[in-house]
Amino acid sequence: MSAFDQKDILSTFSSEVRGRFGLFKLKSSDIFEKCRLFKLADKAKELGLYPYFLEFDKNEGPVAYVRGEKKIMLGSNNYLGLTHHPKVKESVVKILQEYGTSATGSRFLNGTLKLHMELEEALAEFVNKEKALVFSTGYQTNLGILSALLGPNDYIICDSKCHASIIDGIQLGAARKINFRHNNLNSLEERLSSLPSDFGKLIVVDGVYSMDGDIAPLPEIVDIAKKYGARIFVDDAHGLGVLGYGGRGTANHFNLDDKVDIIMGTFSKSFASIGGFVAGDKSVIDFIQHFGRSMIFSAALPPPCIAAVKTSLEIMKENPEMPTILLKKSEKYRNELKRLKFNVGNSQTPIVPIIIGDELKTILFWKKLFDEGVYTNCIIPPAVPQGESLLRTSIMLTHSDEHIEFALEKIEKVGKELYII
Ligand SMILES: Cc1ncc(COP(=O)(O)O)c(C=O)c1O
Repeated sequence: MSAFDQKDILSTFSSEVRGRFGLFKLKSSDIFEKCRLFKLADKAKELGLYPYFLEFDKNEGPVAYVRGEKKIMLGSNNYLGLTHHPKVKESVVKILQEYGTSATGSRFLNGTLKLHMELEEALAEFVNKEKALVFSTGYQTNLGILSALLGPNDYIICDSKCHASIIDGIQLGAARKINFRHNNLNSLEERLSSLPSDFGKLIVVDGVYSMDGDIAPLPEIVDIAKKYGARIFVDDAHGLGVLGYGGRGTANHFNLDDKVDIIMGTFSKSFASIGGFVAGDKSVIDFIQHFGRSMIFSAALPPPCIAAVKTSLEIMKENPEMPTILLKKSEKYRNELKRLKFNVGNSQTPIVPIIIGDELKTILFWKKLFDEGVYTNCIIPPAVPQGESLLRTSIMLTHSDEHIEFALEKIEKVGKELYII
């Protein structure tokens, strides 16, 4: 194929990529018509430009394999690298032998084990709250918290870059939703000052933002919340294990454990498992426990998953220096990207975006890096706003200097090839 033909195909593909959301507005007597018309994923695969649902032969943490080829894993949430820690694996096998594979029911009925209660106690203590409640995924945790708490006489004031699970949870609740501009305190205060004083108000932020790796300015948010009588909920999926003493999270990082009302975390990141939890005052957690439908109407977290979280938590408590080392390693990597003149936004954590802007260029960057042996996350709308496409890269404690140097060398090479730097 000539370079001209290739450019033509890419340009058609690019306009199809941009037009893909039109399918949702299609009017047809057959509800499946939109599915028949959805050809973009197949086309992207034909062009070798499909970055999603990739099949890994195995993932060892800092290194993964695809079709027998080694890739440096620069797109994982396994920040502390605990998924392959010998103690974690041993504890999972032990619990599996003793308790089997499933809790076989909802927490509400037959699914609660003593193991769940022990984990909840350990988590509450870790984040310095009265009580914690475990869910089967982080996504369900946010659905459960928000659908339970948000009544018709409440307002929710949400950072515009909050995670999709927050947005979906808000839709399940009855409260009125108001966005404020990302990490913008003036925008937050402006929104709050316009609300009636006799309505309930909940401010929701991510502790660490999952795509940009920046941190919510909690000290200022706490002051504003106090002024307007609002409560604060922090989704700390990416802050736990990474920030605060021994990984106790974003509130702890700012010494504000007691000023943040609700903290949620997921087990699919630093805790080497799957699941999620919410922690706060006993009365609030008891309420969510009895009205959080995503927990009541879904099966409980299986015993082997609990074991992985419990052991990860023990490892974190025994090795409080881990997050400090991780942050230093991440800073070195980020500084190197900055030196090369990549746009890394306001990242302050192991999540370091390489902001490109254009969707197609981002997909091409992803593909070329992948072929060079580096896996990153290709992030395009709707995960980010139009024109803000990026490669999400993240550093793990278990990356060696050689892994990071290899990745940086390839990022520089491809960045120059695509005239990004
Ligand atoms: C900020 C945030 N909250 C919640 C979730 C949902 O957690 P999980 O994937 O463990 O269900 C994620 C997952 O990516 C997240 O990034």
